Amino acid sequence: MLKLSSRVNHLKPSATLEISARAAQLQAEGKDVISLAAGEPDFNTPDTIQAAATEAMARGITRYTPSSGFLSLREMIAEKVSADNHFPVKPSEVIVTCGAKHALYLALQCLVEENDFVLVPTPAWVSYQAMIELAGAKVFPLPLFEEDGFCANVDRWKGMSIPSNARGIILNSPNNPTGVVTDRKQLTRLVSWALQRNLWILADEVYEKILYEGATHTSVASLGPEVAAHTITVSSVSKTYAMTGWRVGWAIASEPLIKKMSALASQSTSNVTSFAQVAATTALKLPHSYIDDMVKIFERRRNYCLERLQKFTNVVTFVKPQGAFYFFLNINKWLSDKKMSDLEFCKLLLEEAHVGMVPGAAFGQTNYVRMSYATSDDNLKRAFDRLEAFMLK
Ligand SMILES: Cc1ncc(COP(=O)(O)O)c(C=O)c1O
Repeated sequence: MLKLSSRVNHLKPSATLEISARAAQLQAEGKDVISLAAGEPDFNTPDTIQAAATEAMARGITRYTPSSGFLSLREMIAEKVSADNHFPVKPSEVIVTCGAKHALYLALQCLVEENDFVLVPTPAWVSYQAMIELAGAKVFPLPLFEEDGFCANVDRWKGMSIPSNARGIILNSPNNPTGVVTDRKQLTRLVSWALQRNLWILADEVYEKILYEGATHTSVASLGPEVAAHTITVSSVSKTYAMTGWRVGWAIASEPLIKKMSALASQSTSNVTSFAQVAATTALKLPHSYIDDMVKIFERRRNYCLERLQKFTNVVTFVKPQGAFYFFLNINKWLSDKKMSDLEFCKLLLEEAHVGMVPGAAFGQTNYVRMSYATSDDNLKRAFDRLEAFMLK
């Protein structure tokens, strides 16, 4: 048996991918499993984007690219972000990465020292903790409360002793797992709280285009040049253009940091797949109606879930999501009645009712489950029928 490094000794696979994998295994055994666990649109990548990749391959765009990505794509990202997100970006301030995930990973590797702390408003996306720890640092969770609509309320953190070696904070809006969108006023307060503590801000904005009922996205870096100087903005084409498997994302930050992140990428992945970069450039040029059509479908499904959840009011509470494609359901009442943990709930739900969901514990919040509605109307209907039979029987 080879001896594993202490760096990876405690490393676990991503919880969302794990549940999806078990669901896929049951499916392969012939079980009719409905997975509400995955964090990706169920649509195919639009044809125009696929065609751009095929053409790129035919034109011989199949070789190494600059490690920070093709200039044409970085220019496109800079132009698009400057226009849509309202802060000025130069191509030299952009690195193209293997999804937003690797942008976050590279940024953390470049920004923290051994035993530093990174603040993470929690519940939070599953991978932040692992990435922070792989960089040698530690997570300092900042609690978010359902009573506050899962919005960051800095007054709640007043009595907490934030470690003096806290270097940064990760902000994620629209949020996974809660679906909550931080509005401009809340964001301004939160950001000034962070800057008073001299923290950098890692702004994970991957769900920026998936918004409902007139909710608007405010990029952290758009709050002014002083804020932008302390911010690393991360996003990708994954969720916006149904391109999760293509692995194209980006980070936007000051040139010296981008240069270091590129050096690190050049020593690890070399570059993002050449023709996937061409496809992403095409995606970013598509009219907004492509996104609007997808968002309309998600909104319809969200509303359907809201309707079906009415039956569960005795055992389930939640904050109405305004973005992304998740419900974060508080099932505490049901669990305490059954003396079960959220993990046990998810396992039983999968094995008995063949419905996949992710336990809240994976997001740092026990007694909750995350339900994704990025699946067909028919699947949602059948999943709710089964959930009713499972929870309300
Ligand atoms: C909050 C959040 N950040 C980042 C990512 C990673 O996205 P990408 O596919 O661009 O790597 C995800 C994917 O689920 C996510 O939910």
